[in-house]
Amino acid sequence: MILSGSASQALATALASALDEPIVPLDYDRFPDGELLVQVDRGAPLPDGVRLDGSTFAIDDRAIVVASTPTPSDHIEVLQLQDLAREAGADPVVTVIPYLGYARQEVAHEPGQPVSARAVCRALGSSTDRVITVDPHESLVCEYFDVPCEPVSAVHTLVPALSIARDEPLFLAPDEGARPLAEALRDAHGGGEIDHFVKHRTSGESVEITPSECEVAGREVIIVDDIVATGSTIASATEVLTERGVSTVRIACVHALFVGGAYTRLRRAGVDEIVATDTIERAVSTVSAAPAVVDAL
Ligand code: R5P
Repeated sequence: MILSGSASQALATALASALDEPIVPLDYDRFPDGELLVQVDRGAPLPDGVRLDGSTFAIDDRAIVVASTPTPSDHIEVLQLQDLAREAGADPVVTVIPYLGYARQEVAHEPGQPVSARAVCRALGSSTDRVITVDPHESLVCEYFDVPCEPVSAVHTLVPALSIARDEPLFLAPDEGARPLAEALRDAHGGGEIDHFVKHRTSGESVEITPSECEVAGREVIIVDDIVATGSTIASATEVLTERGVSTVRIACVHALFVGGAYTRLRRAGVDEIVATDTIERAVSTVSAAPAVVDAL
């Protein structure tokens, strides 16, 4: 039985098809003060194994809550869906968090800051038996859950969607932390060179990129990262590559947050192609992370 968060309906549907499990029909609403209301859609037929009789709601089987958490509201919604499943008697309650927000605050980066990822994960692990999350920014965050949490990677699923045209493309990580993702993509493609730049973040919306010595003139470069948020990292890397005579720049990212004007920023910077998974539902999210999650389930 799948319970989908409002921000993860495409991936939840793909998982339901792959697992041959029904989706519980839900309505998502807000009270005038902004509080979220999630409830079973009383007007929709319920799948076998789900009952709504007067004041009783029951789920006879396991429940899989599928909900990315790019916003604070999405975190609340996961808690609501877990509570709904738990109180309905679902056993076990599995929570799939395709994109786990706050994972970039996996430590206190400055004294006087909370470990925000720890606070969030403790809450998200409180009403579930197991968590699966896709390419968390730091796998350390899985240790913050009080229940088993398994990170899975979907980066290899991006390869078929990329229009890689030339032999020996360069798979480039914009910083050292993303290098394993670049290696995974290169391995899935079956060949190509690997390199990484050095990144220094100067603010939430700007970064300084120090390029490597790698030859890029006339080459096809695939920049690989876990998250594109403001697009500043990829735009800066693309500008460096363009100055050095790159032929084509393709972007492969797992989580396309695409905050504000990120898409146009990347296009203006000279990016030729952007491919992402559906852990975040955006126009560029043409690849489903469902196969990676199904393997873990
Ligand atoms: C940070 O280390 C991440 O891997 C991404 O590079 C970062 O989140 C991208 O953010 P933005 O698109 O705002 O530069």
